[in-house]
Amino acid sequence: MAIAAAQRSLLEVIADIERCPDPTITLDALDPDFGADHYSGEVILVDDVEYIHRPLRAWLELGEKLGLRLRVPRLIERPFMRLTYERLPPGGRSEDGGREKYGTASEFARIVKAEEPRFVLDLREALARVELPAQPRVLDLGVNTGAELVLALALDARLATATLVGVDHSASALAAARARLPQATFVEADLATLEEQDLGARFDLVISIDTLHSPGIDDRRLLRHIVLDRMAPTGALILGFPNGRYRGGELEYGTRVVNLREPELGHLVKDVAFYRRYLQQHRRRVFVTGKHEVLVTAVPYLQPDAL
Ligand SMILES: C[S@@+](CC[C@H](N)C(=O)[O-])C[C@H]1O[C@@H](n2cnc3c(N)ncnc32)[C@H](O)[C@@H]1O
Repeated sequence: MAIAAAQRSLLEVIADIERCPDPTITLDALDPDFGADHYSGEVILVDDVEYIHRPLRAWLELGEKLGLRLRVPRLIERPFMRLTYERLPPGGRSEDGGREKYGTASEFARIVKAEEPRFVLDLREALARVELPAQPRVLDLGVNTGAELVLALALDARLATATLVGVDHSASALAAARARLPQATFVEADLATLEEQDLGARFDLVISIDTLHSPGIDDRRLLRHIVLDRMAPTGALILGFPNGRYRGGELEYGTRVVNLREPELGHLVKDVAFYRRYLQQHRRRVFVTGKHEVLVTAVPYLQPDAL
């Protein structure tokens, strides 16, 4: 039977959901279109009856927090909609597949970040903060199949004339990257040995998304090397750090620490604070943005034409 949620408090609804033993849970709630411009939880009158307004966002967040997928809401008799939640599989840690952990045969290869709206728009914002010379040199560390370079090219016309270099240790991912971006150079190497790699002149933009925290990488040493040896004096940097995980295809907010079920942001906050301070000390303005993907964007205080 559906839980009648349109006149019950959020705490009562949560208790009802948590008591429900079924694999799917149905609720009848007020159609949120009746409450446009109202706050979540405000009482509103529909046909002279009081109901609690909750926007779709509240129902999505509730599901996300309780490990439930929200199916498409269905309008039923006025003024209600029917919500169905289904339980998500437990989120696990991916197997350590060595260099091919993120290869083309991995579960990771199914993820299409270019279709994650927050990521796309946050990356667009980050790129817009970066000043670039006419023929910029761009380095992507942990480039994988080149998907984020393809996205960056689509987001920023200035990159059409860029020299693109990508580094990764996954041979299968790089084969896909070479097929996607034949004009780019891809180097198969362990980032722990980046200091020994000849990648040519310094770069105007370095991108590294979800890579600095990988096992076997000393993130602080790598950051120092990027800033001191790889970036042009007016170079910019865009770093990404995961702050979410996928469960049954759904993206769940918050980074997880081993042995803790609930997200714990302490380590991420501490690391981001370190990167921010380090980059500021190296004459960069730093912006920290994002939600499921935290982006740290560093741009020089002095833009190229001011030097
Ligand atoms: C989580 S994936 C992120 C890929 C891509 N940047 C993205 O955000 O979709 C991490 C990438 O870094 C690569 N990687 C991890 N550790 C590495 C290492 N020590 N040396 C080189 N590449 C590494 C992996 O093969 C993988 O392509």
